[in-house]
Amino acid sequence: MISSTIANLLSKNNKLQDIEVKGWVRTFRAKRFIALNDGSTINNIQCVVDFENTDEATLKRITTGAAVHIKGSLTESQGKGQSVEIQVKSIEILGDSDAESFPIQPKKHSFEFLRENAHLRTRTNTFSAVMRLRSSLSFAIHKYFNENGFYYMHTPIITGSDAEGAGEMFRVTNLDAKNPPLNENGEVNYKEDFFGKETNLTVSGQLEAEAYAMSLGKVYTFGPTFRAENSNTSRHLAEFWMIEPEVAFMDLAGNMDLAEDFMKSVLSYILEHNREDLEFLESRLLDEEKSKPQAERSDMSLIEKIKFVVDNNFKRVSYTEAIEILRDCKPNKKKKFKYIIDQWGADLQSEHERYLVEKHFNCPVILFDYPANIKAFYMRLNEDGKTVRAMDILFPGIGEMVGGSQREERLDVLKEKMKALDIDEEELWWYLDLRKYGTAVHSGFGLGFERLVMFATGMGNIRDVIPFPRTPQNAEF
Ligand code: 4AD
Ligand code: MG
Repeated sequence: MISSTIANLLSKNNKLQDIEVKGWVRTFRAKRFIALNDGSTINNIQCVVDFENTDEATLKRITTGAAVHIKGSLTESQGKGQSVEIQVKSIEILGDSDAESFPIQPKKHSFEFLRENAHLRTRTNTFSAVMRLRSSLSFAIHKYFNENGFYYMHTPIITGSDAEGAGEMFRVTNLDAKNPPLNENGEVNYKEDFFGKETNLTVSGQLEAEAYAMSLGKVYTFGPTFRAENSNTSRHLAEFWMIEPEVAFMDLAGNMDLAEDFMKSVLSYILEHNREDLEFLESRLLDEEKSKPQAERSDMSLIEKIKFVVDNNFKRVSYTEAIEILRDCKPNKKKKFKYIIDQWGADLQSEHERYLVEKHFNCPVILFDYPANIKAFYMRLNEDGKTVRAMDILFPGIGEMVGGSQREERLDVLKEKMKALDIDEEELWWYLDLRKYGTAVHSGFGLGFERLVMFATGMGNIRDVIPFPRTPQNAEF
């Protein structure tokens, strides 16, 4: 008896006696045809039941969602739509499924409904394809860094510092919420807390990655990060995964080259290895597009979009150039933007980013050299004294995918910046040490993993590309 995955069986075109598979029934038609799926591929295998020799009680238990163990032989299929099928010799019901109440019926469900059933939604083609792609992209990311001389490091999840200085953090404490210890001023006394200080879930592993880059040379982190920003958008999660490489002796230009090469490499990987899932998602999108007005339809299919990114250079544009483009563009002049761009120094909103990538350049764009005062404290100040060596990579349909920079390696400049922003030197004493002992030019970036998965799968809502999304007012499952 050969036990096999469905993916493996479907890839064979020869006959095989004595095979066995285990999986979940997608549909059971005419008391005869089971469409079986085991997660190994988007495709089901057809299992033909010999209903005359199967007892009625067992036939009744072959329902959508049931887990079954099938033994039989692999034969050339008589029917259309598949080249091989299984002639069932025996079927054992491993787990019954109440067909009436099973939420995943063999029909179209809304994504909202499926989110409420996130524990079962990977029983659908769309979500199983998305999650296989997510897994594949993770693997491709590790493969890329491994092959390019990077060390994978694990940065802490619990931290005492706010890397992005945005203050949107989740507190970690084991103090009694109803009755916390207080200090002389009547404030909560965190000295009595578990770590003896205020701690939070990390928003980024960058600062710790910098420490390791300054000894191991090239490192990256790939872990969960947490942000308590109350933005209920289709592109924000409270818990998301971030990939953060950090490289010693690399400047901003090198950082851009790395980010571009990296993204192209991982996207090529899925074009090569996840063809069937991509084709399924592409046809799903084409269906969805049909219900949209002509003007809003995309002129490229999913696979074409991915190929376009892989085959074309990202456009590199300075913040100053971008402001000029935006100031003179139609939606700005006609006051169609919510935030009108009237002068240099304005922070770019997603409407502006989308105009640049989707209307003006129509390709991924790397914006660099932003005004110092709209970016984080650790970014390298340029010689002009007002811009920093920051870069954001913007993608059509997604907006900001990557945020990164060359880091301020000069102790005096960094200290001054921290002072101006009221950042406690004592808290970041170790970060300053890196500038005291063998400081060097270094750079890195952060890629929001879920935004990459959105781009690669064509899914429109970030909640649909992570298994169990965490968003404001939602931590079910
Ligand atoms: O631009 P950000 O805030 O950059 C940093 O955290 C740097 N410390 C990274 C570095 O230089 N090592 O975040 C990086 C990326 C964003 O470009 C975006 O793709 C993603 O993380 N991101 C989010 N993704 C989902 N939900 C959120 N709430 C996100 N916030 C940021
Ligand atoms: Mg950013």
